[in-house]
Amino acid sequence: MTVSVLAEDDALQLLTRGAMELEGRLVDASNTTLRAEITLDGLTRRCVYKPVRGERPLWDFPDGTLAGREVSAYLVSQATGWGLVPPTVLRDGPLGPGACQLWIDEPDDAETLIGFVPAYEVPPGWFAVANARDEDGDAYALAHADDPRLARLAVLDAVINNADRKGGHVLYAPEGTIYGVDHGVSFHVENKLRTVLWGWTGKPIPAESLETLTALGANLDGTLGATLEQHLTVSEVQHLRLRVRRLGRSGRFPKPPPDWPAVPWPPV
Ligand SMILES: Nc1ncnc2c1ncn2[C@@H]1O[C@H](COP(=O)(O)OP(=O)(O)O)[C@@H](O)[C@H]1O
Ligand SMILES: [Mg+2]
Repeated sequence: MTVSVLAEDDALQLLTRGAMELEGRLVDASNTTLRAEITLDGLTRRCVYKPVRGERPLWDFPDGTLAGREVSAYLVSQATGWGLVPPTVLRDGPLGPGACQLWIDEPDDAETLIGFVPAYEVPPGWFAVANARDEDGDAYALAHADDPRLARLAVLDAVINNADRKGGHVLYAPEGTIYGVDHGVSFHVENKLRTVLWGWTGKPIPAESLETLTALGANLDGTLGATLEQHLTVSEVQHLRLRVRRLGRSGRFPKPPPDWPAVPWPPV
């Protein structure tokens, strides 16, 4: 299979109109998350297919909407121009309607920007965000790099109210592109932000990101807002607008609430 990088529009065409052939279930996936080959006009790629039918009810999220949240996360990322979510569409598939997302191949020597490190060896330029001990009682820190790509992802997570940004949900594509995946538990109306990316908490959001938030706010009042209402409730879209506005006004990365476990488990 050739794996040259696809232009975004070509990827969306392929995902929307391609013929899907299931490969198997992803072992560490919690809901029915399948990998498929998808082919259009002789072009074949892989995709992740999450049929609505396979969604397991979650106590704190309405049923049957995880796929819509995946697509919404892509649409918001696309609107920022940051390209942080792989192209994702809602379409019919072998197991009925679901989210279909372009598969991202990580090179063997892919960098990593998030992980556990010995507590006294946090690399220079990294933030320690939580403490942990292994079975022998040795101290480790959950840490991540002070990297502008991750910082943009942290802003995106605050915008979409992502309840599950763990290390394994950040993918490292060739040429320094990073992607966030698994946005099925985002866009709740209550604050659910749960992430490993707390390194910038309380710090100023970079000016470039603030400009992006301003433009995103305007877009949410227009076409983007209307499009998202096909996938989310009116109230969820309204709260999304409020989060974008609040972030822009405060100009700072959010702080974890005191009453909510703010780091997902497992975190990597
Ligand atoms: N677009 C993608 N490209 C490459 N790998 C992916 C992609 N989406 C998910 N994965 C891999 O599959 C795993 C399971 O997918 P995920 O979206 O987390 O499913 P679930 O919602 O069931 O947890 C992820 O942790 C990641 O390793
Ligand atoms: Mg997952």
